[in-house]
Amino acid sequence: MKRVRVFSACLLALSLAACSSGTNRKDAIETKVEALLEQMTLQEKIGQMNQVNPNGNLEEMIAIVKEGKVGSFLNVIDADVVNKVQKAAVKESRLGIPVLMSRDVIHGYKTIFPIPLGQAATFNPQMVEDGARVAAIEASADGIRWTFAPMIDVSRDARWGRMAESCGEDPYLNAVMGVAMVKGFQGDSLNDPTSLAACAKHFVGYGASEAGKDYNSTFIPERQLRNVYLPPFEAVARAGCATFMTSFNDNDGVPSTGNRFILKDVLRHEWGYDGMVVTDWASASEMVPHGFCADRKEAAEKAVNAGVDMEMVSATFIENLEALVKEGKVSETAIDEAVRNILRLKFRLGLFDNPYIQTDASVKYAPKHLAKAQEAAEQSVILLKNHQDILPLTDKIRTIAVVGPMANAPHDQLGTWCFDGEKAHTQTPLKALREQYGDKVRILYEPGVAYSRDKRTDGIARAVTAARNADVVIAFVGEEAILSGEAHSLADLNLKGAQPELLSALAATGRPLVTVFMAGRPLTIARQVEESDAVLYAFHPGTMGGPALANILFGKVVPCGKTPVTFPRMTGQCPIYYAHHHTGRAPSGKETLIDEIELEAGQSSLGCSSYYLDAGFGPLFPFGYGLSYTTFAYDDLKLSATELNPNEKLTASVKLTNTGKRAGTEVVQLYVRDKVGSVTRPVKELKGFQRITLQPGETQTVTFELPIRDLAFWNIDMKKVVEPGDFTLWIGTNSDEGLSTDFKVKK
Ligand code: NOJ
Repeated sequence: MKRVRVFSACLLALSLAACSSGTNRKDAIETKVEALLEQMTLQEKIGQMNQVNPNGNLEEMIAIVKEGKVGSFLNVIDADVVNKVQKAAVKESRLGIPVLMSRDVIHGYKTIFPIPLGQAATFNPQMVEDGARVAAIEASADGIRWTFAPMIDVSRDARWGRMAESCGEDPYLNAVMGVAMVKGFQGDSLNDPTSLAACAKHFVGYGASEAGKDYNSTFIPERQLRNVYLPPFEAVARAGCATFMTSFNDNDGVPSTGNRFILKDVLRHEWGYDGMVVTDWASASEMVPHGFCADRKEAAEKAVNAGVDMEMVSATFIENLEALVKEGKVSETAIDEAVRNILRLKFRLGLFDNPYIQTDASVKYAPKHLAKAQEAAEQSVILLKNHQDILPLTDKIRTIAVVGPMANAPHDQLGTWCFDGEKAHTQTPLKALREQYGDKVRILYEPGVAYSRDKRTDGIARAVTAARNADVVIAFVGEEAILSGEAHSLADLNLKGAQPELLSALAATGRPLVTVFMAGRPLTIARQVEESDAVLYAFHPGTMGGPALANILFGKVVPCGKTPVTFPRMTGQCPIYYAHHHTGRAPSGKETLIDEIELEAGQSSLGCSSYYLDAGFGPLFPFGYGLSYTTFAYDDLKLSATELNPNEKLTASVKLTNTGKRAGTEVVQLYVRDKVGSVTRPVKELKGFQRITLQPGETQTVTFELPIRDLAFWNIDMKKVVEPGDFTLWIGTNSDEGLSTDFKVKK
């Protein structure tokens, strides 16, 4: 007890001495960390490195807290329990170190925003930041101060269920959106009681799991790791993301939780990161079944020596570290370093000064939060097809047939990773259409099939009758929330159950068919796009998806979302992404497809190029694709120079005109190709984007500044350099279209 008081007095003196400037505050925190560390026993240090998922027994929680055997709890969301635990930690443990409460708050806490993939489709970092802020405000009201987001795994294979949680296939988009989420979660200062420490996950390469199967191995060579998978993590590390989480996968034989190269060489030494590193759930002990460690003791040894600070749930640290230190297999210096990182975070969060929470339940589902979630959902919807401008629906429409299993699926439209959002608050499309337009149009609701996997076809006839009695059919289809997310990979991306039959039957009525997809990934929807007059892709849009879609269907809101991932035609094209490398045999001209091959054709190399006989070369929709209710014209691409030095900045501009009859927002995208490199380079890479809103007839010059250093990549000598030579630059509406011009980078 005496030592606790001495420490507190010492802390007070240090706090008073700390001046408000950032550096001084940092120094003051370091001094506090060292002062505290000095007083800790080895057991107390190891206790801090232990994160526990409690079984609900408060007495047991309090007991381990008092003994200093836990640094963080997961999934405690009862304010009263949080305060009791903190009281035990602060007042009854020897050193009074508060506990860090954590939870997966991924795309909202109570108010659920679109899944991260949908948020990425907004191409609006401010919107994404605002969404994370809302999540932080709501979650911190229940005592959560650490979330396991953003997930910034570059995801190029839609079979992988966790693509839903990512910002898609592009390193730059993941970086921009990841930084936005970090800013939103962490707010202006971690010290603010409404801030959550963010956690960049999963470090690293998890999105490349072989064959899109969750937890599977990855085989990413160092250059690709550095050029594709690491950049979003570097961006968030530099933006102050408080924590990192190791990933489940073994890359080239080394599980991330035991990978010294990524955790020490890259993260700590190259990037100078001083945040805290946690394992994924039991990923330390899983190094045993991986066959990377003989037993749990070796797992603890390898994890700590690789650079892990805290272990999530598997308890190999608390069981073994003391012995490992005694045996000299883990040094106390390594333990100290881990504990420094943990204590630094707790000080940065202000937990020592303010460990308790005052719940303010009114922030949950606050009207302004719901309004933000609706805006985010509106911006996340992608218009993929609009034959003869069938959308938006006009006031000539008298009767609508609302069909499909996702029209009124309050649980499923929330999407994966939704622990706390309650379906009672969900606004479904059916509800919103009835509420907003029920007095103007007759709404005939016939789901046709009950849920996305439902194979029964007996409801289809009723849906067809409704369609025949309507002026337009709106079919809400897709996949239930549980078909994407962690541990939910698919080998077939076609619509499940009897949904394809339902849509074909609706199309056969000849009534105009608007199909709205809600899903955790791009599904293979070539046939359904063909059968539909208009197609909207909403991913899983969250609590306010219904009003957002109703506004888009009736034109109160003009769609502006863009695909954050390439949409394959067929599952067999996965992994598929626009920034693939040049092969020696890229198709040029027409591909010969399977039905065009003569019977008993002799051995030939056909088009002699890299494509599939049945799917062709290209995707169904390219990355960055999305239509609007208006049209945009690109004109007059100009560069500030055509030859530049590596230390210069290129300015590129284009004239964008709204050539349609409605105001609309276009996501203007800038891509670059490095024509010849010391290693082969991607055919295009996104380097910038801007959302521009224009009135009908309005023209705006859109200007991008591109520092030439942003063209650097890890080259044949594994050095990050800009290689002099020729480049092509595009500015356009998606990764497949745009105006282009060339420039040169000089030596
Ligand atoms: C396992 C998941 O991979 C990770 O993303 C999540 O944050 C943890 N479990 C904690 O729930």
